[in-house]
Amino acid sequence: MSAQIGVTGLAVMGANLARNLARNGYTVALHNRSVEKTDTLLAKHGDEGDFLRTETLQELVDSLEKPRRVLIMVKAGKPVDAVVEQLVPLLEEGDIVIDAGNSHYEDTRRREAALAEKGLHFVGVGVSGGEEGALNGPSIMPGGSKKSYEALGPMLEKISAKADGEPCCAWVGTDGAGHFVKMVHNGIEYADMQVIGEAYDLLRSAAGIEPAEQAAIFEEWNQGELSSFLIEITAEVLKHVDAPTGKPFVDVVVDAAGQKGTGRWTVQSALDLGSPVSGIAESVFARGISSQKDQRAIAQETLAGHEAAVEVPENFVEDVRQALYASKLVSYAQGLDMLTSAAKEYGWELKLDEIASLWRAGCIIRAALLKDITAAYKGEDKPANLLFAPAFAESVGAAVPAWRRVVATAVQLGIPVPVFSSSLAYYDSLRRKRLPAAVIQGQRDLFGAHTYQRVDAEGTFHTLWGEDRSEIAAVDTH
Ligand code: 6PG
Repeated sequence: MSAQIGVTGLAVMGANLARNLARNGYTVALHNRSVEKTDTLLAKHGDEGDFLRTETLQELVDSLEKPRRVLIMVKAGKPVDAVVEQLVPLLEEGDIVIDAGNSHYEDTRRREAALAEKGLHFVGVGVSGGEEGALNGPSIMPGGSKKSYEALGPMLEKISAKADGEPCCAWVGTDGAGHFVKMVHNGIEYADMQVIGEAYDLLRSAAGIEPAEQAAIFEEWNQGELSSFLIEITAEVLKHVDAPTGKPFVDVVVDAAGQKGTGRWTVQSALDLGSPVSGIAESVFARGISSQKDQRAIAQETLAGHEAAVEVPENFVEDVRQALYASKLVSYAQGLDMLTSAAKEYGWELKLDEIASLWRAGCIIRAALLKDITAAYKGEDKPANLLFAPAFAESVGAAVPAWRRVVATAVQLGIPVPVFSSSLAYYDSLRRKRLPAAVIQGQRDLFGAHTYQRVDAEGTFHTLWGEDRSEIAAVDTH
């Protein structure tokens, strides 16, 4: 018997993907650096489908039908290179190496190019949904060559989550596109989590609503346009009571958020692309500030707050809901806009309707509104920004009064709402007829002769600031 796919790296994500494949009728060859993990998996779940036990990479490769498909699920970075290095000499032209971890897309591009030279396909696949998703149906974002998708696509589609009966898996673009899309997914995930956190803080600190009561509010929100996995699990977290102390769980957890790095990568790449993902960036920075425990302790003793004694607006809970909705949408808009910039930069044909569609189920940012986002990008008339799609321009527009009230109240009360407020600033920046960038251009021209353009004439200009302040035509040094 030969296997249709091999999985190496059987920590929880790899093991669950292997089980998912086997449960879907594929024969799966298993390999792990220490064979104990393989044996544990077989002992616990060996009856879920057809598995082949292997002890070495050579055995794994020998057990596979051709073209071979080897899925690697090890820690991103050096461990991936180490496995690829051992695997490559054992493979033949046309074989496919799949990296389903959270690898950096630049690493994936490098590996894809290196393996292509040897006639091998290297496919970076974004997988979202955590352990549960890996087992029961994740959202899958494969990159790599289109050719590799012919041999791989049907399998991945079969094990993926389904939304309205459609697989949440589609080839997104060549080389590192899959990992890039997954990275941006995570950037949006960070922002989505942060805006929920900000809503919680406002409801608690401004309106005095305790976690248990908030859980009911989040459950209710989950029935409407905010319906999403993250809202659903927030209700669970807020409801949870710490058994030893009887306190709300959120009150016994240290308020310093960790991160494995994908949110940071999103922002780093966005800076390189010149893509203004301010909400996503603020969500990464918010995690950073939360972890600066020492500085926070000093600030509490040292820095004045001068909070104003403002009345919390009537219908504050509904206001916060609307501000959350609008800010969340801005994060999606920024993430999708970043994908558009990346597509240009890397020559990817990223289709935003397909990408939004494969985030509808299985992944961490799955949300009811992804159906409408998918619809917004279908057809010929694609909006230049998600916020311009008529349905969203209308729904976000309707939320603006509440959004402003919430941000103003938060500022007066000294409650930090970095993503609520920066998202509103993004919205207002887009709308604003004249931005102060003209002043910046003037400053740049004065101190560095960086030149500027005029609103009323073609060309590039420089003012002779140190002379008679006359204007001359200049070579563009923007
Ligand atoms: C997913 C998640 C997952 C991510 C974790 C941790 O889509 O399933 O994005 O891939 O690794 O959620 O992320 P942080 O540790 O950076 O918060």
